[in-house]
Amino acid sequence: MTILTASDAHIRQAADSLRNGGLVAFPTETVYGLGANACDEHAVANIYAAKNRPQFNPLISHYASSEAVFADIGSNPTARMLASHFWPGPMTLVLDRPTDCQISTLASAGQNSVAVRVPAHRIALKLLSACGFPVVAPSANPSGKISPSCAEHVARAMADKIDIILDGGWCERGLESTVIDCRDEDHIMLLRPGPVTKSEIEAIIERPVILPAHDSNMPASPGQLASHYAPDARLIMDVTTPPDGAVYISFGVAKTDNPLHLSLSETGNLHEAAANLFNCLHQADATGCDLIAVSPIPQTGLGRAINDRLKRAAAPR
Ligand code: TXA
Ligand code: MG
Repeated sequence: MTILTASDAHIRQAADSLRNGGLVAFPTETVYGLGANACDEHAVANIYAAKNRPQFNPLISHYASSEAVFADIGSNPTARMLASHFWPGPMTLVLDRPTDCQISTLASAGQNSVAVRVPAHRIALKLLSACGFPVVAPSANPSGKISPSCAEHVARAMADKIDIILDGGWCERGLESTVIDCRDEDHIMLLRPGPVTKSEIEAIIERPVILPAHDSNMPASPGQLASHYAPDARLIMDVTTPPDGAVYISFGVAKTDNPLHLSLSETGNLHEAAANLFNCLHQADATGCDLIAVSPIPQTGLGRAINDRLKRAAAPR
């Protein structure tokens, strides 16, 4: 594995590696993705193996533009409307899988749908343009573990599994894309909360977005299993007074003299907290502590996505 700065020459090298079936980790605005050629069944199988990911959990295919997505997959008016507002950006659309689809069937995990996204990141877009084929990219972490928001997080967890890591510094958003099932225009469903919020989507489509009925054994989005994003330490939420020995991750002004204290955002800013979340979890875990205690996070706007990740990190394993 080599970590490369994201020069134009290195991006071309990464694209060649993907074309030849390699696995390349690259930055996006949400988290680092572990990329493979979406049309290469063998490379896609290697992604599942590298992450130890259950094969019932499908992958997102990344494209350089909305036009490229819709030329491959087709669309409906709602998908086009959402794409024109939120792409490039942290939104994934689930659409019907066309019969002549070039994306590996493994990437759809046997379902008759595909998930697609155009990331808003200079390096990711250059890489995707250089490839000219869609690139599947789950978050570049072992299945069930904390997602990576910098190249070092990827290297630490996945070094022996990947050919190249393109280093693009920190991910600006810090939480994975919002996943929207857009197949039935009368029932637009929020499968995974993320940086594009429910109310932002509703403002564009001018109708309510449906939350799938909660059943963690049969999730509408198979990746939304109860335990995910799990640090090695146990995690508890909604803590205002952390127990002795716990690493405390606070939000807003924290009255604590806990020596093991990390802050998501001292000013109580949800965007800043989202961007810092996974790094704080990585840092807390690196102390070797047994317990991570997290402040209450308001369940509004981006707070919904942050609490979704924390709930899964806290879930019994
Ligand atoms: O921000 C992101 O989306 C990042 C970056 C790298 O783009 N990628 C990412 O991928 O988070 P991953 O594999 O960690 O999460 C993909 C989510 C999973 O919850 C998966 O079940 C869901 O998208 N998904 C993928 N294809 C789907 C499909 N056809 N139907 C329903 N859900 C799908
Ligand atoms: Mg993931």
